[in-house]
Amino acid sequence: MKLKTITMEWTGDSLVLIDQRRLPFEEVYVTCADYRSVALAIKEMVVRGAPAIGAAAAFGYALGVKEMVKKSASYDIVLLQMKNVKEMLERTRPTAVNLFWALERMQNKLIEHGKYEGLVKVIEEEAMKIAKEDIEINKAIGRNGAQLLEDGFTVLTHCNAGALATVDYGTALGVLRAAKEQGKNVKVFADETRPYLQGARLTAWELMKDGFDVTLISDNMSGWVMKQGKINAVVVGADRIAANGDVANKIGTYMVAVLAKRHGIPFYVAAPTSTLDLSIESGNDIPIEERSHEEVTNCAGRRIAPNNVKVYNPAFDVTEHELVSAIITEKGVVYPPFNENLKKLFEE
Ligand code: MRU
Repeated sequence: MKLKTITMEWTGDSLVLIDQRRLPFEEVYVTCADYRSVALAIKEMVVRGAPAIGAAAAFGYALGVKEMVKKSASYDIVLLQMKNVKEMLERTRPTAVNLFWALERMQNKLIEHGKYEGLVKVIEEEAMKIAKEDIEINKAIGRNGAQLLEDGFTVLTHCNAGALATVDYGTALGVLRAAKEQGKNVKVFADETRPYLQGARLTAWELMKDGFDVTLISDNMSGWVMKQGKINAVVVGADRIAANGDVANKIGTYMVAVLAKRHGIPFYVAAPTSTLDLSIESGNDIPIEERSHEEVTNCAGRRIAPNNVKVYNPAFDVTEHELVSAIITEKGVVYPPFNENLKKLFEE
């Protein structure tokens, strides 16, 4: 069983990840031969983006099962050990629900299989299924979202919700890819996305590689660019969407949504249904990751702030549902009222 995309490769024995910390300057790869190194790669952001984290964790889980099956001939012991493996993978990053969704799905498969024989194969197949489904889901998100973009539109995006944030193709950038495939001329403005610079380093890189007309701006320019009439729509990804349609996404998304509302520009969120967390009523309950102070005090490896300055570095924010025009999923485009319409996605 093998899979190879721009973001990850499953060789059957290991998960090879493009090191997103080093892009766009170097295309180097990190090989994870056990679940511990997968957990570290997620924590240290070798791999990032909600669906990519989910798929990587699923392969990490598969590596864990392989190791535990080698160590013990008892299904019950493997099951017990895998609880710890799952917890270790879960402790890596708190906000993107796809991580927890994928690990829950892997654990359910382990329980459903219920015996030692054939375990490794069944679990590997499930991880592979998650990864392959992700690509198909993104293409469906792309097709659904492309209907919202007219020929000649310029779209603003924030962070990286592209091929690099998924197994392939992307969610928000998948919408742009699908529009382009339909023959529409779509231009892109990419926010640089301080402090981690996913927009400058990753979105600009992957869109240029694909021949898009992409213009990079720093985050504080988006309001002015909107005021100048340069933006027709905003399309972003999501890390977790609550039952009422509140959206957690990369820090700065909220600011963009407020500005889009002010300028009458539609604000679209593109995400798979695995990013929906209907167990959470509103965005107030979404855990927001805080990251190291160095991400703010330093830029491109160089300190830019006085020593000992106080720093606050939330990695995500929550955009209230009132600011969201529509949520684009693989099952269709969902419009307000989100608390009624998101539920319907799971009823059909
Ligand atoms: O901290 P990151 O880079 O993992 O954050 C990524 C984002 O916020 C993305 O917009 C989100 O995960 C959607 S990816 C399809």
